[in-house]
Amino acid sequence: MTQLFINIKELIQVRDASIKKVSGKEMSILPTIKNAFLLIKDDIITDFGLMNEITNFSIDKTIDCSGKMILPTWCDSHTHIVFAGNREQEFVDRINGLSYEEIANNGGGILNSAKKLQKTSAEDLYQQSAKRLEEVIALGTGAIEIKSGYGLTVDAEIKMLRVIKKLKNNFNIPIKATFLGAHAIPQEYKKNKEGYLNLIINEMLPKIAKENLADFIDIFCEVGYFTVEDTDRILSTGKKYGLIPKTHVNQFNSIGGIKVSVKHNALSVDHLEVLSNEDLEVLKTSKTMPVALPSCSYFLSIPYTPARKVIEANLPLALATDYNPGSTPSGNMNFVVATACIKMKMTPEEAINAATINGAFAMNLSEKVGSITKGKLANFIITKEIPSYGFIPYSFGTNLIETVYLKGKKASN
Ligand code: NIG
Ligand code: FE
Repeated sequence: MTQLFINIKELIQVRDASIKKVSGKEMSILPTIKNAFLLIKDDIITDFGLMNEITNFSIDKTIDCSGKMILPTWCDSHTHIVFAGNREQEFVDRINGLSYEEIANNGGGILNSAKKLQKTSAEDLYQQSAKRLEEVIALGTGAIEIKSGYGLTVDAEIKMLRVIKKLKNNFNIPIKATFLGAHAIPQEYKKNKEGYLNLIINEMLPKIAKENLADFIDIFCEVGYFTVEDTDRILSTGKKYGLIPKTHVNQFNSIGGIKVSVKHNALSVDHLEVLSNEDLEVLKTSKTMPVALPSCSYFLSIPYTPARKVIEANLPLALATDYNPGSTPSGNMNFVVATACIKMKMTPEEAINAATINGAFAMNLSEKVGSITKGKLANFIITKEIPSYGFIPYSFGTNLIETVYLKGKKASN
């Protein structure tokens, strides 16, 4: 079926297929066409341009977008949306003065979520996760990465990854799966981290590879979690099974996680709330995408990733939600874009680039999503009537999305 969208007030993020990411000063440029049309055939973008350039297409359906804008759907390259229950009590504990670290040290945090998930059936876990996925799609997300890491046993990690696989099969949106067995050290291995690493390496990874359950391998490289040496070991082994590294680094401390990730050609390094000049120098030598997670900084009241420093170093930057029950119980990319502008001093152009084309790169999905490009998936957002695209971050907390299209079909209304 051919659908023609006409009178688009502004068609945002129009790119040639050769552009895979934007870095440094390029991030401040957001190519758009005012008074545009967009043509899609079935699930693919086939043409776009100025309204007065429309030629005689044979069209099944015409959609008038007067006053409205179209932009590519958000690319959320870092989430943990498969989890069981919630950690609302820890939220209240933090309000009452405990720190995220203190809660984790008392057996809360990731281990609390793992306990809940281990007791939850695969079907229940799927239902809870599918609901979250529907919710973020309605908020404009059109490609997503989902991590394991709340199982922490062979069975529970496999259960999580199978749930992700089922989401992949049942939803109309590109999903990438990441194995994050090295998310925390389970209670029973507290004095035997080596034993847990061996479990990941000798039992989890071979099973995951055999069932083809993951695209990427991740680890939480942080004081109190996993060291640089552990990271080196896990990433090397993951790569042997064909998994591409994407890591949690520099959330609270800069301990060399970026260097070891870059050594393994990581696709992305995520968090980066604490970033040294040496870290920036290492990133400059790489193709690795730095990823900031401003909703996590907001929720935990920790520093924001120094976006200006990253961009001024001529590096690229992507934005993602980190949707998870502990540090970021929100999957709203509109809020992420607004917060990046408000708190990280990114311009609307930089933030939209970071949340679309650079997010797609951070998932190895540049060929399919992240821009309005001929041949890419017809995954896009039609906004409500707005005066400018800067209005999206400016009106933080307001839902300006009218319709989300995934593969040429309406996903919400
Ligand atoms: O990316 N930092 C590590 N992992 C998650 C949060 C884990 C949790 O608190 O459940 C994150 O913020
Ligand atoms: Fe995370």
